[in-house]
Amino acid sequence: MSLKVAVVFGGKSTEHEISIISAIQAIGYINREKYEVIPVYATKNSDFYVGEDIDKIEEYKNIPNLLKKSQQVVWIKEGDKVNLYRFPMKKFGNNIISSVDIVFPIVHGTNVEDGVLQGYFQTLGLPVAGCDVLSSAVGMNKYVMKTVLKDNGIPVLDCKCFTWKDYENIDSIIEKVEKNFSYPVIVKPLNLGSSIGISKASNREQLIDALDLAFEFTRKILVEPAVEKLKEINCSVLGDYEEAEASECEEPVNSDEILSFEDKYISGAKGSAKGANGGSKGMASLKRKIPADITDEQRTKIRTMAVEAFKCLGCSGVSRIDFMIDESNGNIYLNEINTIPGSLSFYLWEPLGKKYSNLLDDILQLTLKADRESHKVVYTFESNVLDGIKLGGGTKGSKM
Ligand SMILES: Nc1ncnc2c1ncn2[C@@H]1O[C@H](COP(=O)(O)OP(=O)(O)O)[C@@H](O)[C@H]1O
Ligand SMILES: [Mg+2]
Repeated sequence: MSLKVAVVFGGKSTEHEISIISAIQAIGYINREKYEVIPVYATKNSDFYVGEDIDKIEEYKNIPNLLKKSQQVVWIKEGDKVNLYRFPMKKFGNNIISSVDIVFPIVHGTNVEDGVLQGYFQTLGLPVAGCDVLSSAVGMNKYVMKTVLKDNGIPVLDCKCFTWKDYENIDSIIEKVEKNFSYPVIVKPLNLGSSIGISKASNREQLIDALDLAFEFTRKILVEPAVEKLKEINCSVLGDYEEAEASECEEPVNSDEILSFEDKYISGAKGSAKGANGGSKGMASLKRKIPADITDEQRTKIRTMAVEAFKCLGCSGVSRIDFMIDESNGNIYLNEINTIPGSLSFYLWEPLGKKYSNLLDDILQLTLKADRESHKVVYTFESNVLDGIKLGGGTKGSKM
């Protein structure tokens, strides 16, 4: 019997559309002899839908129409099983659409890639492909990620964090930035992706504009020095805490100073409907050099650092780790990790001879391995703590 894999995509995220592209692309490559695939689309309102057309990219040009002809479902845990039920349920007849053995979230961005969705499925008891709750959450928060990496000796740029509360007194932010860094600086939301809300400031005036922009999108931001002679190199890692390997390195070629949302997802797509058009290949369509134009020494250093970072952040499945080389002095910094990278980084594995279907198989097998291991851990603890307990508050009883 083949395993039932629910590929979940979309969701309440600014990168909703990109996830549709990544997921539908992946669905086409999952080995159907080993796995039965159930594509599950999550709306921006976090409602789940299945149906015959849910994995057809062209249908997403008119989402209301697609939803009308699809079936809303809810996840229900029944004992050790999880089933997808028709919602609302019919009074008579069978409401179970399918059972689910594994969830494969192919989602990008805050609310979905950051452990929130992973935690939901983990609570239901489903094995979840890719990073667990903690590594997803740490990977999404650029400040926490930097702190963990720094503690493990992996080079990252220093940064300062600010919140909406600090923004009420913008002068104090300016003072702190100018005390710690010299211009130019980069201002970015702490937990978004796809370059949303990021800009560079070369003076105080631009810093104010950059802060205004970033705070439109999020309540927490960070400021860090800008690398002026920048070469960006990305490397994917596949594995888990025990064994992980690095992919080929790529060098994204940017047309703009900051690699923008358009550069990443739209410039390569003909006709462009925010990237969600049939012709788009998502991240794979971005202009890039593979292998990256770097020295063997740099390549080895980056690939080694990528695996170290993956392991110390506790990742599993496939991630993409993005580096910045400061070409003025040769320093390499880890910039960020994408725990569910666009197009799952398949194009970085193909040059090493790993086909996309094999990459997907590896991710699913790692999920099963983690699930087997989780059953060896004790979750219940037999004790008599609750026997004979009395709650405090009255005149009698134990003080708790
Ligand atoms: N410190 C920096 N110096 C120069 N450019 C930067 C810096 N940080 C980010 N960028 C530019 O902004 C882009 C997006 O920043 P990144 O931190 O990767 O955020 P996102 O999660 O949105 O991809 C990078 O790909 C790079 O082009
Ligand atoms: Mg990035």
